[in-house]
Amino acid sequence: MNQPATVLDSLALEGGAPLRTRPFTPRPVFAEDERKASDAVIASGRVNYWTGGVCKAFEEEFAAMAGVAQAISLAKGTLALELGLRALGIGPGDEVIVPAKTFVATASCAVEVGATPVVCDVEPNSQNLSAATVLPAARRLSEASLMFLVHPTFAEADMLDTARAVVKVMRAAARA
Ligand SMILES: Cc1ncc(COP(=O)(O)O)c(C=O)c1O
Repeated sequence: MNQPATVLDSLALEGGAPLRTRPFTPRPVFAEDERKASDAVIASGRVNYWTGGVCKAFEEEFAAMAGVAQAISLAKGTLALELGLRALGIGPGDEVIVPAKTFVATASCAVEVGATPVVCDVEPNSQNLSAATVLPAARRLSEASLMFLVHPTFAEADMLDTARAVVKVMRAAARA
């Protein structure tokens, strides 16, 4: 068994002992039941929202699970972020606070609706935005209609409460 590497080792890239010896699981991963379900839709030929019933059934089930009145299924997460911004009325002249460590869609959705992404730092441990990293920017931008996105989903509740007083908040769960 490999000895765990320490922070004193040089980078694996430079010949040091790698911290991880097993490869990461490739993503996305589709389980057999998911593959069978999607094969069944393709085999049915009813692959449109208005001809098939799978999306509507998923929306109803998801809404019930989340305890909300409605859910909307979309082709991909990037579209969901953009739709969220549009639903909140974010557009030209608005600024959207986004975390420095995230997927590109977090910032590109703001550009897509004509708003300006404002990158804020993340905490070293949680790798997420916090009140400390967000509020200075939020106060500076308080004249604008703005919001920030939280990736991933486990943002601290107190940070959300504090931030909601200043900005609109949208949570994204693309990695949940
Ligand atoms: C944090 C985050 N937001 C948004 C997305 C966009 O999702 P999609 O690739 O389905 O558009 C991803 C995709 O990996 C993501 O990791």
